[in-house]
Amino acid sequence: MGREYGESMIFLLVFLIIGYCDAGLEKGRISPDNRLASIAKRPKIVDRRCPDEEIGLICDSQCFSSFEECVESCETSSCERSCLYEYTSCYVDCPCFENCPNGCDGCPNSLCSCSNAETDNDDYKQCISQSSQRFNQCVEGCPPDEMCFDVCIEDFKDASRKCPCMSACKWGCPCNDDSTCQEHIMSLCQIDSLNDGKAANYSYIISADGLFQENRYFTTPPAGGSNYYNKVPFLHRSGFALVNGKILFFGGEYDKKMVAQLDECEIQPTSMRLIYDYDYTSTLVVIPNNSGSRLSSDEVILCTSNSCQDFYEFRRTATQIADTQSYHQRGCMGLYQGKPLIVAGGTARVEHLYSSEWVYKNSYYQSVSELSCLTVENAVITTGGVSENTNVYMFRDEDWSEVGQLINTYRYGSMIAVQGGFLIFDGVPFSTENSNMIERVEWDGQRVVLTRNLAQQPGNCYRPALFLTSPGTCKSFCSDDFCYF
Ligand SMILES: *[C@@H]1O[C@H](CO)[C@@H](O)[C@H](O)[C@H]1NC(C)=O
Ligand SMILES: *[C@@H]1O[C@H](CO)[C@@H](O)[C@H](O)[C@H]1NC(C)=O
Repeated sequence: MGREYGESMIFLLVFLIIGYCDAGLEKGRISPDNRLASIAKRPKIVDRRCPDEEIGLICDSQCFSSFEECVESCETSSCERSCLYEYTSCYVDCPCFENCPNGCDGCPNSLCSCSNAETDNDDYKQCISQSSQRFNQCVEGCPPDEMCFDVCIEDFKDASRKCPCMSACKWGCPCNDDSTCQEHIMSLCQIDSLNDGKAANYSYIISADGLFQENRYFTTPPAGGSNYYNKVPFLHRSGFALVNGKILFFGGEYDKKMVAQLDECEIQPTSMRLIYDYDYTSTLVVIPNNSGSRLSSDEVILCTSNSCQDFYEFRRTATQIADTQSYHQRGCMGLYQGKPLIVAGGTARVEHLYSSEWVYKNSYYQSVSELSCLTVENAVITTGGVSENTNVYMFRDEDWSEVGQLINTYRYGSMIAVQGGFLIFDGVPFSTENSNMIERVEWDGQRVVLTRNLAQQPGNCYRPALFLTSPGTCKSFCSDDFCYF
């Protein structure tokens, strides 16, 4: 007997636990060499009176497609088993399945948010609100003539038809039409007002096409801090990262070893600590769970001059890792082949963290600081820096190349990848010309295809924190005492 038999027993058990029988194989969807998928039986909706059966079945088939993709990328049977486990925990949350027996009524599944889209679906609300703004403008531009109003109404209907939850995107985002489901980016930053007349605190949301922008509100502890003569705002010159699905803030002038966390709309210090100071001269990068991370968790690598630390949320404290060979002050980091690549920063040196040691790679085109890095597929892209040039550079296949031009220069900016490209948000520009811009770059995987200015930042602030979020995030959260501004 041995392994095979043991495995069959486990599969049998799993299916007994799933408890749905019959269902038959989905022929044609399953590749013949795909052992587990061909055994996997699809669960059935038990209660045929469930009101949202159609959504339930769509939901289950989405879970099943992810399961098929998961199994396809597996090489071991334990990997296949974990795919099956994920599939099970996916479909039980579908309307009309185990955890949502009354269909969409009281079911948190995102597919259900279209049932009461006007209250529950942020993407829908956002889209309708934009269409109605255009409608208002249209009507207000009309002479006293009903025909003109009719044209506005038709335009509004056409536009709203493309909204999430409407006919062209029936189940909400994501749907086939990219322009319908815009990504939304939160941009937030705190800075003190000393020595910089253009300094600004801000927190707002912007759509990836720049057509929508609105302020959002977060609370932070009041200005203070131990490392300064003057009180500084809590996030002043801190770093930020998305770690295991949470937004964390590291160091900064308020407390150079702090780790703070965004929870709902509050940013609070935690009991977690860094071991080396993190400030505006430092840089960090996140190695995501399952892409070379050793401990099944996101891992943050943070470097200040040449001292580097690695931070795991569950350890609650950072640990020392190898020093870089050169000093990198105000440089940036990205991931190259899944491992940190530290670029420039008072030097042109570039180093790669490879089996616990930093090894030199081909140098950057010149010594530069205050630039930004972004990880893209098989490459790290850089923009900005004190050199005042508008070139975009890329490190791929062990070498640097110039891959395009921006409209503006950037300094202490932040970048974020979006569908089809990336956005650059300026930090603290050195010249007033074209300053404080948010630029959108279309990227074809090799080169910059096109770039355009989306909007302007409210003012100067070091390395704005950027993360993708849904358009309604922290919209209504604000108390007068605690508002960000
Ligand atoms: C930003 O807000 C903080 C309070 O958190 C305040 O101390 C600081 O002066 C503000 N910065 C600017 C540029 O207004
Ligand atoms: C890392 O990924 C694994 C497998 O997907 C998952 O089980 C685990 O919860 C993840 N870790 C964290 C900290 O999110």
